[in-house]
Amino acid sequence: MDRNGLLAGKKGVIFGALNESSIAWAIAEAAHREGAEFALSNAPVARRLGSLDQLAERTGSPVLWADATRDEDLSGLFDQLKAQYGQIDFIVHAIAMGVNVRKRRAYEKLNYSWYAKTLDVSAISLHRIVHHAMEAKALRTGGSVLTISYIGAQRSFSKYSEMGDAKALLESIVRTWGARLGAHGIRINAISQSPTRTTAGQGISGFDAMFEFGDRLAPLGNASAASCGDYAVTLLSDLTRMVTMQTLYHDGGFSHMGISDEFIEPLMRSLKDPSP
Ligand SMILES: NC(=O)c1ccc[n+]([C@@H]2O[C@H](COP(=O)([O-])OP(=O)(O)OC[C@H]3O[C@@H](n4cnc5c(N)ncnc54)[C@H](O)[C@@H]3O)[C@@H](O)[C@H]2O)c1
Repeated sequence: MDRNGLLAGKKGVIFGALNESSIAWAIAEAAHREGAEFALSNAPVARRLGSLDQLAERTGSPVLWADATRDEDLSGLFDQLKAQYGQIDFIVHAIAMGVNVRKRRAYEKLNYSWYAKTLDVSAISLHRIVHHAMEAKALRTGGSVLTISYIGAQRSFSKYSEMGDAKALLESIVRTWGARLGAHGIRINAISQSPTRTTAGQGISGFDAMFEFGDRLAPLGNASAASCGDYAVTLLSDLTRMVTMQTLYHDGGFSHMGISDEFIEPLMRSLKDPSP
C-alpha cells in the first residue's frame, strides 16, 4: 500500500498489539505508514508473552503498560499521554479475552466469574478507556475512537459462545458513548472483522472451521489483518469525520451473504439422490 499521509500530524494510542499477528499490530503499522505518532499499550503480562517492544522500535513509539480493567492504570496512562503529546486525535481499542472459551467451558455451563472477566476485558474496558480519556480531557475535538468487533454480536456462531455476548455489549457501548461524545466533536465506531489468525482468534475451539466458512462464503474471501489496518486508517482520518456509532463490516461481504453455490449445490445433489 502506498504512503498517503492520511494521518500526518495525528497523535494517538493503540491498545492490544501482542505480536505480529495481532490486528492492533497491523493497525499500528498502517497508522505509522500514514504519518501518525502514537503510544502502544498492553497489559503488563503481555510484556512476557508478546513482542510489543519490537513494534515500538519499528514505529518509534513509547510503550505504556496498563491493564485495561484497572482504573488506576488507565488514569495514569492518560496522564502520561497528555504529558507526552498534549491532546490526542485517536484511540484504538483491540482488546479481548474469552475466559470460558479459552478454558473450553460450554455456554450452557458458564463459570460466572470467568464470564464477568470476559465482559470486563472484552467490552467494559472500552467504556473505561473512553471514560478516563474524557476525564483527562485527553481527546481533541475531531478525535476518533475505534474498536474491533465480530459478527457474533448479531448472529449466533456456536463456538463463539460467551464472546458473542461480549461483542454485543461492546457494540452497544459504541452507540451509547457515541451519543454522548458527539457533543465534544468526538466519534466512535467498531470495525466488525473477518476471522483472523491471531492469538485471541485461535484460542476459540473450531476457529479453523469458522475461518474456512467465512473465507468460502464471503465473495471477496476473509479480510486480512493488514487490510483491517488500512480500513482503520480511514476511520482515524478526517475523511470519516461524520461517521459515528457504527458497526462497519470489514469481512469481504460475508455479512450480506445467505448461501452460495459452493454450499447449496452439494445439498441439492444430495437431496436429488439421497443414497450415497
Ligand atoms: N482474530 C479474530 O478472528 C477476530 C475477529 C474479529 C474481531 N477480533 C477482535 O480483534 C481484537 C484484537 O484481537 P486479536 O484477534 O488481534 O488478538 P490478540 O490476541 O493479538 O489481541 C488481543 C489483545 O488483548 C490484550 N488484552 C487482554 N487482556 C487485556 C487487559 N486486561 N488489558 C489490556 N489488554 C489486554 C492482549 O494482551 C492482546 O494484545 C479483539 O477485540 C478481538 O475480539 C478478532
